Formats: sequence, structure tokens, C-alpha cells
Amino acid sequence: MMRSHYCGEVDETLIGEEIAVCGWVHRRRDHGGVIFVDLRDREGLLQIVFDPDRADIFAEAERIRGEYVLAVKGRVRQRPEGTINPNMKTGRVEVLVHELTVLNRSETPPFHHDEQANEELRLTYRYLDLRREAMLGNLRLRHNVTRAMRHFLDANGFVDVETPMLTRATPEGARDYIVPSRTNPGKFFALPQSPQIFKQLLMMSGLDRYYQIVRCFRDEDLRADRQPEFTQLDVEMSFVDEADVTGAMEELVRHIFKDVLDVELPSPFPRMTYAEAMQRFGSDKPDLRIDLELVEVSDLMDAVEFKVFAGPASDPDGRVAALCVTGGNELTRREIDDYTAYVGRFGAKGLAYIKVNDVSAGRDGLQSPILKFLPDEAVAGIIERTGAKTGDLIFFGADKARIVNDALGALRVKIGEDRGLVADGWSPLWVVDFPMFEKDARTQRWTALHHPFTAPAVNDADALRADPGHSLSRAYDMVLNGSEIGGGSIRIHDQSIQSAVFDLLEISKEEAEEKFGFLLRALEFGCPPHGGIAFGLDRIVMLMAGAESIRDVIAFPKTQTASCPLTNAPGEVSAEQLKEAGIRLRTPRTS
Ligand code: AMO
Ligand code: AMP
Repeated sequence: MMRSHYCGEVDETLIGEEIAVCGWVHRRRDHGGVIFVDLRDREGLLQIVFDPDRADIFAEAERIRGEYVLAVKGRVRQRPEGTINPNMKTGRVEVLVHELTVLNRSETPPFHHDEQANEELRLTYRYLDLRREAMLGNLRLRHNVTRAMRHFLDANGFVDVETPMLTRATPEGARDYIVPSRTNPGKFFALPQSPQIFKQLLMMSGLDRYYQIVRCFRDEDLRADRQPEFTQLDVEMSFVDEADVTGAMEELVRHIFKDVLDVELPSPFPRMTYAEAMQRFGSDKPDLRIDLELVEVSDLMDAVEFKVFAGPASDPDGRVAALCVTGGNELTRREIDDYTAYVGRFGAKGLAYIKVNDVSAGRDGLQSPILKFLPDEAVAGIIERTGAKTGDLIFFGADKARIVNDALGALRVKIGEDRGLVADGWSPLWVVDFPMFEKDARTQRWTALHHPFTAPAVNDADALRADPGHSLSRAYDMVLNGSEIGGGSIRIHDQSIQSAVFDLLEISKEEAEEKFGFLLRALEFGCPPHGGIAFGLDRIVMLMAGAESIRDVIAFPKTQTASCPLTNAPGEVSAEQLKEAGIRLRTPRTS
């Protein structure tokens, strides 16, 4: 028997016993002829002691270095007074070694296990990075989350079904990863952006309740909460409406939080319309833990002398909004400049502000470069609506509504974080009543805000065609602490509505037939009303772990440029493989 206990499990109850442990040398210290080693395994650290009286073992112990792999046998004993570490489970005991096997040696690792080395290096040596307690903890947390999901879903009649990875494009708004077909020259598979169409087909088959913990692939710009391959908990249900799906799914999320973190989330989750979320928070995934809100002032500004405000105020697509920062008067010139640069990233052309030195003194109590352009009523209106008090500062955004929302919505979160205004705890929220379509700013074409299988609120193809811009959909997003952790909808189960949506999206009959003909056909063979949702597993685990990026909760993630420094993927393929796949590269190979 190589091992009787995990290192991290050895405690006072084992004093006097002979045990066998295995692990890595976390740290080695020489203390006046005695050698101490902290031996590490996945459960934690254990102090083992080499006494010079055992000359043969001691000589071997002197050659031990960091990250060597050991198997030892020895007797558990109480640590002497003064050497006890009450913060460690194993901190009151140590093991006096009488048998040592060096199972393997190790090169000096390129970074030390306690340090946060740069991420490129961490990913290159991911297996070493994952030795860190925090990283192993994240992987185990992830396991606990998927286990809780499966338990809940199984108990509620959901059936786990696998869907193809080699398939056709699923329109979720990103580029596809494509795979050439050797047996069908000139043809390509797409890796699924989601199992969306397959799960709908399963409803048509009568499966009734489906789930899958499934990898999805999207070639899109990467961020801290986006990876080119990521994992969804994908769910679909038949004979349901919005309340059935959202009710079951928030119960699932409450179950996970209770089971894994012993946290009670509210019941029911609050819900907010998309329009209200944009109006009050400039975002469709508002973080309600931050007590700052956008205040509409467009109607106060349409006739003012200040063109920067008057223009957007009288533009139907424009918006002028204020954001009052409690105590913001203390912001320095420099800080205001930094915030101005920050909103610039979202397209804002400036960041006007008013400092409230003394709210009781009217105009004279205010300080701002734009004050001279604003009439008394506008100024009084701003103060009244924002509820500004002495010591506050009011920021303004004026532009196309999309830019104002993006800029002030992001500024709200940034200021919340910078000024410690983010309350503790968990703030789940359903966002509902999304628009069906939005205009692509560049092409001026309608695009689906969710995906093109999402049902419109009005189940009428003519009404939809008549006013696509004001049509709402039956979609819902789940937001947690300002992150979109899930999204879904009730689906179209009527062929004529599905065709109308494809028309509006300017997907031609031929293209619709070519890409989704199988779905349109399936809709003709008795499709039940159905709906579902997909959760971003990586994001949920990231939030639960308190991690900064989903990369920290994925065992082998990709970098910001969608590559893997560990395996050097993506890599080149041989001329032979290219030929077999029927592919000729545009740029000749360099090697
Ligand atoms: P959606 O595109 O909203 O919906 O995706 C569902 C959830 O997946 C997560 N997510 C991502 N996580 C990491 N990296 C990414 N690149 C990434 N993209 C999305 C988000 C998101 O809320 N088929 C629909 C679901 C449905 O209608 O049932 C879909 O895929 O947390
Ligand atoms: P200007 O008239 O360009 O000197 O701008 C006067 C003030 O208005 C400055 O504080 C700018 O940062 C701010 N400002 C300019 N454009 C905008 C805008 N689109 N939205 C909000 N503030 C702006």
C-alpha cells in the first residue's frame, strides 16, 4: 500500500499511528540538523520530519528538492509547543519519517507555486499552475456545481442527451469554427455554437425535458468572460411558457447555491424589463448591488444653448442622461479625466459634469464648465431628478442612446467598484421583454437580438412584419451580479412565423432552405410548444469562485488570441493532410 491517508487529512486523531502518505515537496527547511518538508497533495499540506538519527534516510532527504514526488511512511506525533500552526488542518501534528521513497525528481519549476506568475507562463505550464491550491479548488468547485446540476435535473425528469459536434452552423451571432470533410471534398462541418436546433428537434421527438452539459464553439472577440470553447448547461422543455421555464431554472440555481456554497438566494428572483434595465442602468445585465442609477434628462435639454446636449436630446435615437455620484465632489481633475478617457472607449465624445458644492445655494452652489450653457429650469430639473446633495458630482452622457447607455452603464459599474459601492452578496435578476430585432448600425439590417428561433410576443406573422422594430420577444436572460449567466426563450413552433422571421432577417428562401430546411420541415410534423435556456457554466463557476476570469475555472483555457501556449494549438498541418482535406492555402507554408 503506497498510501493510507491524504496529506491534508492527517490530524490529531491519528497521533501515535503509522501512516503512509504520498505527494509533492512543497517546501523544504533545514533546521539545525533536522529536515522539515511540507508534503503536498490535493487535500493539503503535511509536515514531515527527517531526524539525523536515521542516517540513511537523512542523507537521501538532504537531496530532496522542491516538487520532488515522495512516498513516506512514519508515525504521527504532536508538534512541540510553539511550532503549532492553528490555521492548518494538519497544523498540530507532524510525521516522523522512517521510510522514504523518492518516486520522482523535478526540475526547478519556472514559477513558484505561491506566486501569481504571468498568465502566458502559467498557461504554458498549466499542469504546474493547477498544482496551486486555489486552482485545484476551482476545478473541484466546478465539479460540485455540475454534480448539483445533474442531481437537480435528474430529480426533475430531465434526460441527458448528447448532440453532434460535427454539424452545420447554428446562428448564435459569432463566427463558426469549421472542419473540412475528407469524404466530401469541398464541404465543411461547423462546430456547434450551441446545440440549439438539435434540442428543439428533440422536443419534436417527444423527449419533453432535455439537458446537456455541453461544449460550444464561437469564434468571437475574447474577453475575461468569453472563451472560444466554453461550456453550457443546455436545457429544453415542452408544453411550457416563460413562467414554467424561469420558475424551474431559478429553482435549479437556488439548489446549486444552497448545495455548493450554502447560500440562500431569493425566491422568486426579481425581474425587470429590458427597457427599464437600459433606462435605469444603461445595460441589459445590470448589477443591482451598485446603488447608482442613470437619470433621464433628455426632455430638459432639447432647447438648451449647449449643442452637445440639445442635439441628442431632440434626436429620436439620442439620449441625454445623468449619473449622480454620491460624495463624488471629492473626485480630482485627474480622476475625472481618467473617467472621461474610460467612457471614450465606448464611443462617448466627452463626459460633462457638475460638482455640487452647496445644494442650498442654487446655481451659485454648483461648479461646472457647462453651467453657463444651461438655463435655470434645466439646472433645477437636474438637481431635483438626480436628488443630488451637497458633496455629490453629476456626470452626463449625450449621444446616440446606444453610446450613452454603453458609456454610462460601464461608468456606473467602474465608479461602483472604484469607490467601494458594490454591496456584498448575490443579486440574481431576470431580464425580460427583449426586443425581437435590432438594427445593425453598419449594414442597417435587422438582426435577431437572441437567435432566430426565439418566439415573438405577438404570435402573428403580419403584425411582426408590420413593425419589427417594436416587436418584443419571449426571451429571458438570467443575470447574476452584473454578469449574463444564462439566456433562453420560448421558441417558434409555427412554420409561418419562423418563415416571417427568416424574411425579416433577410435570410432568403433558398438560404433558409439550404441552412435550416430540416428545421422548417420538422416544424410541419407536429411540433409541441417548447422553450428552454442555456447557462454559461464557466461564468457561474467564476462568480462562485470569486475569480476574475473564466480562464481560472477552466482546466486548459485559451489565451486572448484563442491559442493554447501549452500545446501550441492551433498548429500547422502537413501538406498531405491539406491535400486529403482538399484544401490549398492562400499563403504558402513557410516551413
Ligand atoms: P447564449 O448565446 O445567450 O444562448 O449563450 C448562453 C450562455 O452561455 C454563456 N456564453 C459564454 N460563456 C463563455 N464564453 C463565451 N464565448 C460565451 N458565449 C455565451 C453566457 C450565455 O448567457 N442557444 C441559446 C440558449 C437558448 O436559447 O436556450 C444560447 O446559446 O453565460
Ligand atoms: P466642449 O464643448 O467640447 O468643450 O465640452 C464641454 C464639456 O462637455 C466637457 O466636459 C466635455 O467632456 C463634455 N462633453 C462633450 N461632448 C459630450 C458628450 N457627447 N456627452 C457628454 N459630455 C460631453
